[in-house]
Amino acid sequence: MVEVGSKHIVKVEGYNHEGKGISHINDFVVFIPEVIVGEIVEIEITKVNKNYGYGEVLEILSVSDLRVIPVCEIYKKCGGCDLQHMDYKEQINFKENKIKDALIRIGGVKDFKIDKFYRMSIPYEYRNKVQVPFGCDEEFVVSGFYESKTHKIIDMNYCHIQFKEGNEIINKTKEYIKKANVLPYDEVIHYKEGKDYGLFRHLLIRKGYNTNEIMIVVVLTFDDGKFLDGYVKFLLENFKNIKTIILNVNNKVTNVILGDYERVLYGDGYIRDKINDFVFRIQSRSFFQVNTKQAEKLYSAAIDMGELKYGDTLLDAYCGIGTIGICASRRVKSVYGIEEVSQSIVDANNNKTINNIKNIEFIHGKVEDTIDDLIDSGVNITVAILDPPRKGVKESVLKKLREIRCKKIVYVSCDVATLGRDTKILTSLGYKVLKVRGVDMFCQTHHVETIVYFKL
Ligand SMILES: C[S@@+](CC[C@H](N)C(=O)[O-])C[C@H]1O[C@@H](n2cnc3c(N)ncnc32)[C@H](O)[C@@H]1O
Repeated sequence: MVEVGSKHIVKVEGYNHEGKGISHINDFVVFIPEVIVGEIVEIEITKVNKNYGYGEVLEILSVSDLRVIPVCEIYKKCGGCDLQHMDYKEQINFKENKIKDALIRIGGVKDFKIDKFYRMSIPYEYRNKVQVPFGCDEEFVVSGFYESKTHKIIDMNYCHIQFKEGNEIINKTKEYIKKANVLPYDEVIHYKEGKDYGLFRHLLIRKGYNTNEIMIVVVLTFDDGKFLDGYVKFLLENFKNIKTIILNVNNKVTNVILGDYERVLYGDGYIRDKINDFVFRIQSRSFFQVNTKQAEKLYSAAIDMGELKYGDTLLDAYCGIGTIGICASRRVKSVYGIEEVSQSIVDANNNKTINNIKNIEFIHGKVEDTIDDLIDSGVNITVAILDPPRKGVKESVLKKLREIRCKKIVYVSCDVATLGRDTKILTSLGYKVLKVRGVDMFCQTHHVETIVYFKL
């Protein structure tokens, strides 16, 4: 019986899907954060469930060559990155094995080749979107990320995976609101007392990596015009690439960052970025891949995998602001994009106009609710690119594509578990896995993007 508080010496045998080390104490499985396969470590058991538990490293008795010193000073506390202790080669190795494992174990696929992983040459400063909460620690204004699985804000001076100006805007804002005597938001007081819970809640900052345009969304608990006049002036004086500033008001007790009310304080309410020669307009709520450089590679790879031909009709399902469909539009006869967020559809139609694309149509709605009507209207989908959120694709959509004998499906996934599940469905419907490729969109974290090409 393994007990909480007991100490053990174990060897790290593998990784789980979150990059935590897996070891055994007899038949009992232990998950250990921040270790590398092959290391021998002394651990203390911190949590015990029926057949498995968690341990924390007390001492590394045999250190792997693949261990590196994390660049971030708050790495151990912050819940953002979880692989910074691994050499980048090992991060990629872990991600590649995670893809293989999901396709074999969950998807039931036996033979497949994995193409060369698309890694980053510099796996830092890649995030084009930053969202940070503001709060108070004693008399200090703090801002950063929540400690893993808590609501405690870990104060952060520099986040190495986000863009430089993002860090500067956050730090200068902390100084500004302290000087201006503005109270940051306090969710506990809000929940318990319902009044005097502060003003400044969140900053959401986005940058067009290929245009240098910056958007700042200031999330306050109410529309405080006097504060905003001074703050906007301060931002514009200090940061020359700001293209738009938006006020968002969120006055609810909620984990959701953005509230319903928005007011544009400066600029047009959007920024633009470029991917593979196309320009995209991005608003505060639009989905845009967080790693622009890798998104360029992801889209090119997905489009190439689909063996697009001029006679093809492409379905860009879960199309966001139309990025994949627009990038593919010159290679096919026509494209239909489906997306459930209405603001993204507005952006997608604008992007169609800006890029002078004539052969694409965007449909607002859930893929599972609209695909039948699209097909019934006479559209003959010959190739589909599916880029769903983490929860994957509804089985009815996969069955519909089979029913209409759509020969080529490119599945772009940010969650290997649902990719595995949907792979099993597609192969049971007769599709074969022809190609697989991993793309490192989320360096220093355990997340991975995968593209799988299925053919009937
Ligand atoms: C992973 S993103 C991909 C967006 C786009 N392909 C891109 O690369 O920017 C998934 C998108 O699916 C949308 N979405 C989620 N569930 C949906 C559904 N059931 N039907 C249509 N769109 C959905 C989300 O709003 C989001 O824009």
